[in-house]
Amino acid sequence: LFESVELAPRDPILGLNEQYNADTRSSKVNLGVGVYYDDEGRIPLLKAVHKAEVARIEAAAARGYLPIEGLKNYNKGAQELLLGKESPLTKEGRTLTFQALGGTGALKIGADFLKQITPDSKVFISNPSWENHRALFERAGFTVENYTYYDAASHGLDFEGMLASFKNMPAKSIVVLHACCHNPTGVDPTLEQWKQIVQLVQEKDLIPFLDIAYQGFGDGLEEDAKVVRLFADLGISMFISSSFSKSFSLYGERVGALTLITSSADESTRVLSQVKRVIRTNYSNPPTHGGTIVSSVLNSPELFSLWEEELSGMRNRIRNMRQQLVAKLKEHGVTQNFDFVLSQRGMFSYSGLTSDQVDRLRNEHGVYAVSSGRICVAALNSRNIDYVAKAIAQVL
Ligand code: LMR
Repeated sequence: LFESVELAPRDPILGLNEQYNADTRSSKVNLGVGVYYDDEGRIPLLKAVHKAEVARIEAAAARGYLPIEGLKNYNKGAQELLLGKESPLTKEGRTLTFQALGGTGALKIGADFLKQITPDSKVFISNPSWENHRALFERAGFTVENYTYYDAASHGLDFEGMLASFKNMPAKSIVVLHACCHNPTGVDPTLEQWKQIVQLVQEKDLIPFLDIAYQGFGDGLEEDAKVVRLFADLGISMFISSSFSKSFSLYGERVGALTLITSSADESTRVLSQVKRVIRTNYSNPPTHGGTIVSSVLNSPELFSLWEEELSGMRNRIRNMRQQLVAKLKEHGVTQNFDFVLSQRGMFSYSGLTSDQVDRLRNEHGVYAVSSGRICVAALNSRNIDYVAKAIAQVL
């Protein structure tokens, strides 16, 4: 049965964890996967999460099955973070949110449902995009193509190229957009540019699939939702995958959500019934623990403000690491201008390192980065930053 099964390549991101864990060098640094570490190099357990967890344990709650679409208050909280508390779309019954197994799970439910309702659409992802986007939509049966996005020469956005790509997309193409903190480049369009993109999406009759896994890591929870709301204001049908993995530091709990905007309450009823079938035939219904914790925080004013404070602490620490990285590279004699790192947003920096340089970083210095040159700035800290900057200086 398995004779002809070929060996698959390692996952370009999670595969690095396997290599990193097997590395015995004590100086090793993992800048591969998108995970936030505190200045001690630890994945934090947020105070807001801990409080909600203690309350849950004390309540000794039973763990029956959740509804197929997940916890009601979790879905409500996730939706309000994206669309705001007073969204007219919600009042009209045109919004649906499903608890999902992380942002990836939300993308997968969305992709499977899209394949059911618009099987001939093509999917367009940014060039470059998160490593898993292409594979995930291909697995769902779609042909996936790139749209122009990053300009390596300026370390910025090729906005004209991006618009040109959009103009060439056939109607009903599915266009995957990173609503904030683009992964892997950290380069986002400005709000003015987004307005033009949104207009083009509508004119060309495209299907937007917004992916927002880093809400709160750009400028703040509300600020980072602006793009989602620009699209929502159009009132067109769309998909949004969101994640609390990073913002709640709950990676292993698989806490994400899929939100859909439909054109009527009647449509919502039918869509709800079909997406539930997608979920039921994949994993039946979502798990209880992580979702309950997130829901408690989102729905308690006290825990919510504690969470927001902790999230802003993470955001500020990352900014500080960006500044220190640029300064340290200079200190170690790098003459190339790395100031672009300061304007990139979110957890990542697309460093411009080649895959050969990334290999040398790993082999010679035990510093792990994604072969595209993406480094996770959120994994830098006051103890490892000098070592990392020196290692980068040496491979440049
Ligand atoms: C990343 O891009 O590193 C994260 O989103 C983790 C993942 O699942 O790839």
